[in-house]
Amino acid sequence: MRLLNALTAMTMLGVAATPAMALEGNLNVYCSVQVEWCEAIATEFQKATGVNVNMTQKGSGEVLAQIIAEGENPKGDVWFGGTGDPHLIAAASELTEIYESPNLANLHEWAHQQYGAASGRSVGIYSGAIGFGYNTELLADKGVEPPQCWADLLKPEYAGEIQMANPNSSGTAYVVIATLVQLMGEEEAFAYLKALHSSINTYQRSGTGPIKAVGRGETSVSISFVHDAVTEANAGFPVGYSIPCEGTGYEVGSMSIISGAPNEENARAFYDYALTAEAQRLGYEVAKQLQMPSNKDAPLPPNAPDLSKITLIDYDFRTFGAEAARTHLISRWDSEIGAMPQ
Ligand code: F6P
Repeated sequence: MRLLNALTAMTMLGVAATPAMALEGNLNVYCSVQVEWCEAIATEFQKATGVNVNMTQKGSGEVLAQIIAEGENPKGDVWFGGTGDPHLIAAASELTEIYESPNLANLHEWAHQQYGAASGRSVGIYSGAIGFGYNTELLADKGVEPPQCWADLLKPEYAGEIQMANPNSSGTAYVVIATLVQLMGEEEAFAYLKALHSSINTYQRSGTGPIKAVGRGETSVSISFVHDAVTEANAGFPVGYSIPCEGTGYEVGSMSIISGAPNEENARAFYDYALTAEAQRLGYEVAKQLQMPSNKDAPLPPNAPDLSKITLIDYDFRTFGAEAARTHLISRWDSEIGAMPQ
């Protein structure tokens, strides 16, 4: 009876359910979006299926490290959200598994590109662009204009006023570094990051930490995904954002099923569900998150940054989503930037 109810609910959600699906038991989700969204999708999936969802929220780099560490003895079933590059690294090491969901058809082209780059082991669920968040009141009090270009961040008026995240834990910070390397070349990008270091007051663990600090008036400026700046502004904080005039990088936020997932059938059901427009609407409607959804029928939330109107670089996901590039850039950042006194 419980299985029947679950299957009916799954059908109502638009999920491709099969009678063989084990819609009971557990599902362990590693979640790299903000906790409100993790909780919203876990609650709805659990309500619809009866599956008990255990959710752990961690940064993209932290989940990658965990999946690598768990290796042959995986504890997680699905990795939901987080920047696309570490999902590609997990895919290349076959730490995540190939799955062709029946719900792939209605996704934007960029979500399919992530699927192709990962050889079917990961798929795009949302996208968002890097930019600058700023506290409008703090900058006005100081008589300082908001930054408009990467070059502006090196101006003396921002000394000690900027936050970004640490690329070891945060996928956002890795996208920032990879973007600078693609815009400037590696040597110039590291010279820039060194010069920027004297203006940074903290490298936060999480990619959203810096924009939350901006909202609360703890720092004037952050380097962040700009959808997260709108979330803070919508919550009533004095936050604005700008897009770097030289162009900027972006993420294809992704989802993958972990190889050897202990609850594989439930993982597939969750994956199918997460690709539906209904599930993707939860990101904005329940969790107030403003990424661009990958399902064509899930609307761009009101006031969300529209990527089609932003000057994006042609982000090279294959190169910068490879382990060699990530390991090289992060160890270089650790030794040349992270190790410098603050
Ligand atoms: O959840 C907000 C968000 O900016 C996502 O768009 C992104 O994928 C994620 O955070 C990255 O988090 P982190 O930088 O902590 O890995």
